[in-house]
Amino acid sequence: MGLLIKGGRVIDPASGFDQTVDLRIENGRITGLGPGLDSPGAQVISAAGMVVAPGLVDLHVHLREPGFEEKETVATGCAAAARGGVTTLVAMPNTRPAADCPEVIALVREKAEPTGVRVLPAGAVSVGQRGQALTDFAALRRAGAPAVTDDGMPIQNQALLRQALRAAKAAGLPLLDHCEDRDLVGNYALNEGEVSQALGLPGRPAIAEELQVMRDAMLAEETGAHVHICHISTGKAVDIVRQAKARGVSITCETCPHYFLLTQQEVLRQGAMARVNPPLRTPEDRQAILDGLADGTIDAIVTDHAPHCQQEKDRPLPQAPSGMVGLEISLALSLTALYHTGLLPLSRVIGLMSASPAAVLGLDAGRLEVGGRADVVIFDPEERWTVDRERFASKGRNTPFHGFPVQGRVKYTISQGTIIYQEG
Ligand code: DOR
Repeated sequence: MGLLIKGGRVIDPASGFDQTVDLRIENGRITGLGPGLDSPGAQVISAAGMVVAPGLVDLHVHLREPGFEEKETVATGCAAAARGGVTTLVAMPNTRPAADCPEVIALVREKAEPTGVRVLPAGAVSVGQRGQALTDFAALRRAGAPAVTDDGMPIQNQALLRQALRAAKAAGLPLLDHCEDRDLVGNYALNEGEVSQALGLPGRPAIAEELQVMRDAMLAEETGAHVHICHISTGKAVDIVRQAKARGVSITCETCPHYFLLTQQEVLRQGAMARVNPPLRTPEDRQAILDGLADGTIDAIVTDHAPHCQQEKDRPLPQAPSGMVGLEISLALSLTALYHTGLLPLSRVIGLMSASPAAVLGLDAGRLEVGGRADVVIFDPEERWTVDRERFASKGRNTPFHGFPVQGRVKYTISQGTIIYQEG
């Protein structure tokens, strides 16, 4: 059965389309876009007052399966994605076993199939993410990996990284890099600065991120490979990417809502709930992230959705794991921080969460066009609500945004023409 979405404000950032029209979907494809459309027998969704946008694309999600099903499964993570308007996501390989071979990639894809969310499992750069031997990138690509990354276990060895970039280029895959020098950050819990000093704890310095972003930019330039910097969090790191882009280096980057909404002060208020890698930084860094989003240096908003169990996050700050969930609230947080403040127009915020991340990996996603995949999110851009982690579909309740007032709410998520989430 088809779908007819009536009278919504249809925004397609890739083409610049922004008009109040109808959108018709048949057999998983968009078959009409215009005023007064008809579709006999189709289910009609009234979207008056709503925005109709491309299904969101999240390049950075930890689904935890296989191996850590107590934190999240592919099914619960995809249910969370659907609630957040996300129809395509890239799953990180730090599972047990790691996604370092075609079999694990295939397993994750198989588990995702019935959820309706398109899950693209990234392959590990190194066997077991141990930073020693490279995986077979061509085989990972054939299995469906859109990129390679050792996320969570930054690659320290520069010779290995250089070799990886050459191999990634040959395989036609981007390399996504979590940049933090491991010798400099240890297993420390928060940014090195006034808050770490106040707590008497060692911190993770900004320079640990900036050195690796600089290294990656230089190696991308030298090898011609595409490096994508994961969850960028410091002002100088944004500057390095800005300058590299100006030189024509094949480099892109992403950030997360927590880096443009929160600072290290949050650790004083919320302890381990505000622990994440890279850590929440200073107000100046937060401002630089906003500037990077505004001037286009930052290509994508992602979640780094990283579910952990309550008892793990209940440990004292130095022993608790890093990470926060985000799939169900990233659109609302981004609209609240970027659109409702007047910093960015609505189409730019949507583009940072759909067309632009899709372009980073060359995915067939993030657009609304006749003949294209019917991946759609319908949201009320104005509705005010309060984040309530008890209502998450994710198994993870670890968010520093519990109780946070937001504006903008997902009403429907449609993947290949099928409604995979409807509010209420
Ligand atoms: O905070 C984080 N959590 N950063 C990472 O790089 C990994 C992630 C996780 O897997 O929990």
